[in-house]
Amino acid sequence: MLAGCLTGDDGGDDVEGVPDEPAEDEELELVHWWTAGGEEAALNDLLESFRNEYGYSGGDINNNPAPGGAGSAIDTAIQSRVSSGDPPSTFQIWPGGSLDPYTSEDLLNPINDVWTDEMDSAYLDGVKETARHDGDFVAVPLNIHRLNNLFYNVNVVEDAGIDVDGLSDGEDLLTAMETADSEGYIGMAHQTSSTWSTLQMWEMVFMAQNGVDAYRDVLDKNVSDHESALEESLQLVVDYSDYISPNSASVTWDEANQAVIDGDAAFLHQGDWAVGEYQTASGFDYGEDWDMVPFPGTGGVYAIVMDSFVMPTNNPSPTMTKQWLRQCGSIDGQETFNRTKGSIPPRTDVPTDDYPEFLQDQASDFSDSDEQVPSIAHGSGIDPDGKSQFEEIFSGFIESWNASETASRIVDEL
Ligand code: BGC
Repeated sequence: MLAGCLTGDDGGDDVEGVPDEPAEDEELELVHWWTAGGEEAALNDLLESFRNEYGYSGGDINNNPAPGGAGSAIDTAIQSRVSSGDPPSTFQIWPGGSLDPYTSEDLLNPINDVWTDEMDSAYLDGVKETARHDGDFVAVPLNIHRLNNLFYNVNVVEDAGIDVDGLSDGEDLLTAMETADSEGYIGMAHQTSSTWSTLQMWEMVFMAQNGVDAYRDVLDKNVSDHESALEESLQLVVDYSDYISPNSASVTWDEANQAVIDGDAAFLHQGDWAVGEYQTASGFDYGEDWDMVPFPGTGGVYAIVMDSFVMPTNNPSPTMTKQWLRQCGSIDGQETFNRTKGSIPPRTDVPTDDYPEFLQDQASDFSDSDEQVPSIAHGSGIDPDGKSQFEEIFSGFIESWNASETASRIVDEL
């Protein structure tokens, strides 16, 4: 019965037949990419809540990260294992289109039994949709990150005489970066050792210049009508590149972000996972030392990035995996994880009254937002093939910084 449920010959049945007690040799192997300081701290909080809930010691858990911001190394670590029937217990994945390569090969167990009525009724409807395939739940979303943030060091911008609230579009931001540079600061802390941060920055610039409908057109690969807008937005990113971290090619996103914390850089464009770093930095306080405005020109938009966990078929630890997924979907798990991670919970009933002020501000921006859009760089906005095409084109872009050639490639290759 159990084997039938979980071998995944036919894509697996539901997890209903999984026993409540784990087998003696069960171990939860957890693959994820949360290795930056704040990310790791948030995962550790979640692991602690899991151990407390189910009475496990550290020895029952094989925490096996695949380091690389925005999951840049996780596919290599996971895909062949899952397809050859040797998967980890569970792994981190963006819900939505990123699940397709797995669901199309029936490599994820339906987990309707994890999604109790209590959980089902607590989640935001739009989030639930991203966790389903063919009517079955296959993933448990854990968090909602915002991508269209512009973080800044308060003392640096004050010292440079920059009025951040007056930045109304991407061109204003260029002027502010020039000003910071002329005052001896790095305009924008940024990494180019991996393509995703520049891809997401361009997504923001394009949306700011052309609006959400045109951005959605690009997600739908209707790019040929937008060639000149593509070129213009790419050119602005090229202009930004004169003011980014001088060591951008050799640092990770969190290493680049350290320059904001240290008072060497004015701005950072990142998802609010950057807040995990600010919260763990000592003496670096929201409102006083760092602050955030929506990326200029994208106010009213909440660009969304979520993470989830899944149960691959042929699962090595069915009971522990199911328990882990339940914890990810629980009030307790989401309360503790999101508080540290810099994201807001996708359950609507998680008490956030004593959350850090920044997260409370994000939560009200989320409920007041006019538009919620997904991202290319973080998988959910485009199918995996489209994402790979963009990544390849942008890996050329961060070498050449050639806007017109890159715009033509997008139009020709998408
Ligand atoms: C994930 C975040 C993570 C960030 C940087 C995003 O794709 O959703 O959880 O912190 O990448 O690694």
